[in-house]
Amino acid sequence: MEKRGVPAQVSKEYCQVKKYVESIREHVEAGVGLILKGPVGTMKTSLAVAVLQHYIQVGGYGLFVPMASLLDNIFTLKERNKEEWLRYEDRIRSTGILVLDDLGAEYHQEWVLSKVDAIISERYNRMKPIIITTNLSAKELKGKYAERVYDRLKSTSKVINFAGSSLRESA
Ligand SMILES: Nc1ncnc2c1ncn2[C@@H]1O[C@H](COP(=O)(O)OP(=O)(O)OP(=O)(O)O)[C@@H](O)[C@H]1O
Ligand SMILES: [Mg+2]
Repeated sequence: MEKRGVPAQVSKEYCQVKKYVESIREHVEAGVGLILKGPVGTMKTSLAVAVLQHYIQVGGYGLFVPMASLLDNIFTLKERNKEEWLRYEDRIRSTGILVLDDLGAEYHQEWVLSKVDAIISERYNRMKPIIITTNLSAKELKGKYAERVYDRLKSTSKVINFAGSSLRESA
């Protein structure tokens, strides 16, 4: 993971992520993931993708799931091809690293929330790491999901807090 071009604003957070990446195999083996949380446009997704890319480069497996499209994926795959959907669900549960991008942005419906709950619990039980990016605070996450969901994530992840204003250029 190269530092070239990382804005000064996120250099502290970058260093924390880099430290995690330096022992990526050990972390994955131990089921240790990351919670990247903070305001919009502070490179949380970019860094989560960089971690996943690095892990794949060293021979690992992983899956990137944008939370906002989880519902879509469930519906379209289920309709189109049940077997394909079951394979997708299985990968979500068992892949080396699972990135859940923008946790909290998915559709707020009871069965979607319990799906998220099930994914997180199953990976926790199998000691498989999750990398979360989110704009929500710990309190908001606890309010949205069953309290044990955040508890599990927190007990198996390094929490990195992003701060500052959005790096996204306004058009
Ligand atoms: N290496 C970089 N140098 C400068 N700017 C960058 C770099 N990488 C990403 N950015 C800028 O930062 C913006 C935000 O990045 P990213 O989408 O990863 O943020 P985020 O924290 O995931 O935001 P959100 O909370 O909205 O999902 C990008 O749109 C891009 O403009
Ligand atoms: Mg993002």
